[in-house]
Amino acid sequence: MEVQKAHFGPDGARSLWRSLIFSLGLEVFHRGARLVSLHERGRRNALDVQLVSRSVWFADLPQSFDGYRILHLSDTHLDCLPDLAKVAARLLAGVEVDLLALTGDIHGHHRASLAASTEPLADMIESVHVKDRRVAVLGNHDPADMAEALDELGFDVLINQSIVLARQDECIVVTGLDDVHRFFTRDALRALSQSPEGFRIALVHSAEVADEAAAKGYALYLCGHTHGGQICLPGGRPLVTRLRRCRYASVGAWTKDTMTGYTSRGLGVGDVPLRFNCRGEVSVITLRRSGSAAR
Ligand SMILES: [Fe+2]
Repeated sequence: MEVQKAHFGPDGARSLWRSLIFSLGLEVFHRGARLVSLHERGRRNALDVQLVSRSVWFADLPQSFDGYRILHLSDTHLDCLPDLAKVAARLLAGVEVDLLALTGDIHGHHRASLAASTEPLADMIESVHVKDRRVAVLGNHDPADMAEALDELGFDVLINQSIVLARQDECIVVTGLDDVHRFFTRDALRALSQSPEGFRIALVHSAEVADEAAAKGYALYLCGHTHGGQICLPGGRPLVTRLRRCRYASVGAWTKDTMTGYTSRGLGVGDVPLRFNCRGEVSVITLRRSGSAAR
């Protein structure tokens, strides 16, 4: 699919025209921003990254996982704006978590070397203390070779597969899917339905199979892809989300049936290295069991 430049989502083949028009629109905006001196302000905004902390409560979370901390990174795209790595490294220095979950779009420009994205990523997360595992899924900007590059950085890259995390005699399941915005195959849905039973977390680059995960009983769904809109109206309302399905999940916290979801605004930026009315983020999500003392 990558070689053929095919685009497939859960709703079938996707037109390339839409992507081309979107890219053209961004380029026009980018050039326009330079003309009216908005560029420097947008770039400053893009470097103004926020560390978001959020607790999410579940009645069925295994007791041993009460307080389990997940560092959620998404859409790092560090080749597009390398200065972000140092900014984020300062925010993340000394952060202690149980799991590091990276939900895709590590890369940005398809002509750039993968090292332009992965080397600053390695520096950025060097001082984060992760007790359990580093796990990652790929995004629509990531070539298949990114899996090997992330593996070398110590990530378990989950491509339509699940891992089980154990604590004492209890466990939770983390299922990671290949990108479903551009590289969707039925294997993604099979991975959701064939994962082990129990408290399950889905890591997916985009929210576009949130309804499928909710129907299969997942408790938590972490994703990115939209950049929160990246260029938004005052108040943070996205102009474009690039979601073709599940648009209710375009940014921040949301629910679908009994499933809780979180769509990160992402750390990085795409082809246009600017943000307006939408800060980039790195997030620490703490799993809490309903009824536990600290509520
Ligand atoms: Fe992205």
